[in-house]
Amino acid sequence: MAENRLNEEEKKGWSRRDFIKGAAVSMAGAVALAGLSQKEAVAAEAAKPAATEPPKAKTGAALKLDDVLRVAREKLYPRCRVCPECDGVACAGEVPGMGGIGSGRSFKNNYTSLAKVELHMRTFHNVKKPDTSITLFGEKLSLPILSAATGGTTYNMGLKGKMTDAEYIDAMLGGCRLAGTCGLAADGIGDPLDVFEIRLKAVSKYKGKAIVTIKPKTQEEIIKRIRLIEQSGAFAFAIDIDSAGRAARAVPGQTVEPKTFKQLQELARSTKLPFIVKGIMTLEEAEMAKDAGAAGIVVSNHGGRVLDHTPGTADVLPKIAAKMKGKIVILADGAVRYGTDVLKMLALGADAVLVGRPILRGAVGGGQEGVALMINKMKTELVDSMVMTGTADVKKVGREIIA
Ligand SMILES: Cc1cc2nc3c(=O)[nH]c(=O)nc-3n(C[C@H](O)[C@H](O)[C@H](O)COP(=O)(O)O)c2cc1C
Repeated sequence: MAENRLNEEEKKGWSRRDFIKGAAVSMAGAVALAGLSQKEAVAAEAAKPAATEPPKAKTGAALKLDDVLRVAREKLYPRCRVCPECDGVACAGEVPGMGGIGSGRSFKNNYTSLAKVELHMRTFHNVKKPDTSITLFGEKLSLPILSAATGGTTYNMGLKGKMTDAEYIDAMLGGCRLAGTCGLAADGIGDPLDVFEIRLKAVSKYKGKAIVTIKPKTQEEIIKRIRLIEQSGAFAFAIDIDSAGRAARAVPGQTVEPKTFKQLQELARSTKLPFIVKGIMTLEEAEMAKDAGAAGIVVSNHGGRVLDHTPGTADVLPKIAAKMKGKIVILADGAVRYGTDVLKMLALGADAVLVGRPILRGAVGGGQEGVALMINKMKTELVDSMVMTGTADVKKVGREIIA
């Protein structure tokens, strides 16, 4: 029945983008509750009073994720439609923006590579209160989920006049602390040094509970930023080495470049801070990063934003982890949406995961509390999936839970 109705709408020329435009978050609920057609539900959604201010949690009144997402959609549209499933379909080609580059295939591959991993359900055991805590470069975290670096509040997210860079990074890092974890601070390619410094101020405010990323700029520029990061108290820094692509190179006045082994070595040797290379998609480069002195890698294709037609990260992670697990810290990201996705990434060999777009929406829609809500939702799902697979400890997730 629902399928027939959708086909009818499609005949009338409705694309999925149009459909999502007015309806993303509460469509399912509206349709189910009121028995509305999708077009009627879109109209009902549009008629709702605007909630342009982040909902405030009053004492005793719980902030709801639905409200956070509705505000996020209002603020982020048309850069992000806050789709019910964040899978890279509606936003294909939207870079700058929130989507994946070109056909959007790399973003979509992240989603499908993870979705096709299935879990064995195991319920004969005594795992009732699984341990989700980890230690990352000496930092104790209560769960293996970190907020990914997301930059460009103006050119990617369209938040000019709605949220400043200072508010955004405060929401991210503060929300992560509320949830017992930490986040990565970005170095957006178009962001001047003073925006980078705004982020470092937030890092200091949250007592260094952050990893700071730097774009693969000239060696001199990177080392200048490493000195600033050291002063901020951050416990590690990362270079998103995969940002040397066309989109980043096209930004006027910016120099980003692929790095040689020697250059990576120079950067690792320039500081005592642990150095993480973000944007590793092959075993060869994981090995090179380690040999160059990196303490960690992020298996990532930048959320599918830098090169069209890469495999999904969940497809390349097992090969990298088979050789590198225990030799270097392995972080992974790409379309991690649920606690089950976190567990899958750990089973495939990651030590912890980064989450980009969903936490971004939490920050825009609900500030610190929105971020914490989003992370806690994933934590609840993670704990539940650990119980349901008989997994006692996130530090010891084995491949045997994968079907
Ligand atoms: C809007 C946006 C901005 C981003 N900016 C940065 C950045 O400045 N530095 C960086 O290392 N990665 C950046 N990323 C990539 C994320 O750190 C992360 O690798 C990716 O978003 C993970 O995929 P997910 O969003 O599907 O979870 C950005 C991603 C998005 C969506």
